[in-house]
Formats: sequence, structure tokens, C-alpha cells
Amino acid sequence: MTIAEDVYAVGVKDWNLRSFHGYSTPFGTTYNAYLILDQKNTLIDTVKGPFFDTLLHNIERILPCEKIGYIISNHAEMDHSGCLVEIARRAPGATIICSTRGRDALLSQFGQIPGNIKVVESGETLSIGKKTLQFFHTPMVHWPESMVTWMPEDGILFSNDAFGQHYASPETFADEVGCDIAIHEARKYYANIVNPYNRSVVRALELLSGLNMAMIAPSHGLIWRKKEDVARILSCYGRWSGNKPGKTVLIAYNTMWGSTRIMAKECYNAIVDAGFRAEMFDLDVSDISDIAAAVVDSACLLLGASIMHAAVLPAMTTLVGYLGSLKFSGRFSWTFGSYGWAENSFRAFEEAVGKAGFPLAGQGFYTRYVPDRNAINSLLLTVNKFVINRLKESHFEP
Ligand SMILES: Cc1cc2nc3c(=O)[nH]c(=O)nc-3n(C[C@H](O)[C@H](O)[C@H](O)COP(=O)(O)O)c2cc1C
Ligand SMILES: [Fe+2]
Ligand SMILES: [Fe+2]
Repeated sequence: MTIAEDVYAVGVKDWNLRSFHGYSTPFGTTYNAYLILDQKNTLIDTVKGPFFDTLLHNIERILPCEKIGYIISNHAEMDHSGCLVEIARRAPGATIICSTRGRDALLSQFGQIPGNIKVVESGETLSIGKKTLQFFHTPMVHWPESMVTWMPEDGILFSNDAFGQHYASPETFADEVGCDIAIHEARKYYANIVNPYNRSVVRALELLSGLNMAMIAPSHGLIWRKKEDVARILSCYGRWSGNKPGKTVLIAYNTMWGSTRIMAKECYNAIVDAGFRAEMFDLDVSDISDIAAAVVDSACLLLGASIMHAAVLPAMTTLVGYLGSLKFSGRFSWTFGSYGWAENSFRAFEEAVGKAGFPLAGQGFYTRYVPDRNAINSLLLTVNKFVINRLKESHFEP
């Protein structure tokens, strides 16, 4: 598949993947690699190890592997470097290009790598014939050695994981499936993989801001090729890395016998009736990586759970711990739930939510066993006071 003159997509589609280290991938994913034909034929990244045969097949439809002159390793993570050793073995004349930290990481993972390794500085250029490659280091987007490769002649940024999505489909380009879908998947990718490194993203965007990009070709998912789609994903990365609160009230809850669900639904109705957007996740049927994605567009989080063995239900503990690791900021929280005999078990929960980066708007609301009408009325008063009024006071536009 050609993506520009003499530039081929030679990566693979992993249709069966359903979890990328815990990140749910209902559509599978792709490991994108690109082959540029020039005086020095250049392979940009490889794919996950088990897909070597397909990568080799895709390359050799275009040229014998031994004719590859450069192999660019933008990122040492194994979904992109997993076939580097095998490809280098079949292309004995090839030079591997990576950052200094890339070389260290590759050697730590693979021991020895056949062929020469050439380390490149950020901003360094390399002529491969008619075309030029320029490398920009993007440390911690999302590993220390990460870099991107820019090809000015065609205006293509080979961005590796940045701007990617875990999304396999018959299509290759974002506009073919619809930019909204691609952005939705890119948001999930951002939340789960990139969000902890927002400050590094800001620096990377600054570094790349002078490039007149016609196309962004990431290492996962769809390629952004329309001018407006390129602008849109860049602007999303600008917004997401700013960690600004969004417009949706996110309600996540977990329940054993339904009391906490009753409370969650009452909160949801009150918030929607007040004219705000709300989104609700039951942890029994929701995936934490989808909830993380929703946090990106959330104004605040309402977290509800019941007490089991003197702690909130474990799925809630897991969610709070996970969201904490993603280092969100700028969103407040409020907690609710149901208990049988020991309300004070919620203190540790409140503390954990605060520590996860979601400061509590006020005292949570907890009901003993099943909430009766009085309890619901008190719940609604409290959610009004701490959530709805606060959203109104902050001149938050629904
Ligand atoms: C296995 C189990 C363990 C429980 N452990 C506690 C506990 O340690 N402390 C407490 O106050 N209530 C405990 N409860 C009572 C529940 O918190 C109470 O029934 C609550 O109303 C359940 O709310 P839900 O319907 O939203 O799950 C426990 C209930 C179950 C089934
Ligand atoms: Fe990665
Ligand atoms: Fe990746």
C-alpha cells in the first residue's frame, strides 16, 4: 500500500488483540512500519515479534530485504522493535538509526544487534537519496528514547506512538473511517499511554510546531492525511496535554446489591436535569481504559461504591489507583456509596481519590444498606451543593 510516492505502509494488523497490557482493544490494533524506496531504501520501525513473517512478506513484495540500507528505530518498545534483529540479520548492509537512549534500550532488550548502529541527535538530518529524513527526539512521549522522523519532501511525520490509536480496520487513513472515530480512539490512546507525560508532550509539540505537516503516519492505527485531520489531531494533543477539564460529569460506580446503583442513577438524573452532560460507568461491565479515556473530557468525577470487608469494592480501588497513575489534574471529585455497619471505611477511599489527583468537592454521601426516600433526598441535596452548584458557579457551560 502506497501512502506517498515511493513510501509504502508495510506494517501488520493484529486483528485478534483484545488487551494491550491491560488497555482494552476491542478492534485489535496495528503495528505500522513504513518502507521508503530511494538510493538508500529505508525501513521506518518494525512490528511485534510474532508478526515477522507478515512484515517480511510485505517488504519483499516491494524489494528484497537485503536491499534495505537504513532501519530507523523511533522507539525501542517491542511492538515496534520486535523484528529489528531479524530484519537486520536479513539486511546485512543496513545501518540502524536511533537515539542514544534508543541504542541503550535496544541493547538491553536484545543483547546483540547485527549491523551498525548510528546514533542521531535531535534535529540531525540524513539524506537517503532524493529524500531527506530529520530526527526529533521526543523523550517521554512515551519512553525516554522515543523520537519521530520527519520527511520534508513529502511533509510526512512518522510519529511512532504519538498520534496513534489502537484500532485495526480495513482502512488505512483516518478520513476513510471518519475523523471522529479516529479522534475517539486517539483520545483513548492518549489517556492510557501518553497522559502521564503531558509536560513532555507540550515540549514535543513545541519542537515540531515549525513543521508543515501534510501527513502524520503513526505506528498504530490510522494515518492522518487530510489537512484538516492533521490540524485536528494536533489541536487535540495541544488540548489534552494541557489537562484542561472537559464538559462531562463522569459517574463511575460499583455495587453488590444495587444500593450504590440507585444512588448513581439519582445523581445522574439530577445532573442531566440541571442541563449538564453526564456519562455513567458500572465497573462490573466497563473497562478502566475506557473510563480513563472519558476522564479526558470530564469536568469532574463522581465515584460511588459499597463497602466489602472494610474497604470499597476492589474494582473501585483498582480504578482509583489506575487513574492516579495517569496523572490527571484539574478535575474535582465527589464520592458516594452504601455500607452495612462501618461507614468509616469510606475514609480510606476518600483519601485515595484525593491522592489520585481528584480533589474532593466536599463531604461524600454514604447510606446504610438500601437508600430510602429520605436518604435519596439528602443525597440530592448534597450532590446539588457540591457538584451542580459548583459547576454552575464556575460558569461552566453545559
Ligand atoms: C461480602 C460482603 C462484605 C461486606 N463487608 C462490609 C464491611 O466490611 N463493612 C460494612 O460496613 N459493610 C459491609 N458489607 C455490607 C454492604 O456494604 C452493604 O450491604 C451495602 O448496602 C451494599 O451496597 P451495594 O448494594 O451498593 O453493594 C458487606 C457486604 C457483603 C456482601
Ligand atoms: Fe510504545
Ligand atoms: Fe506502540
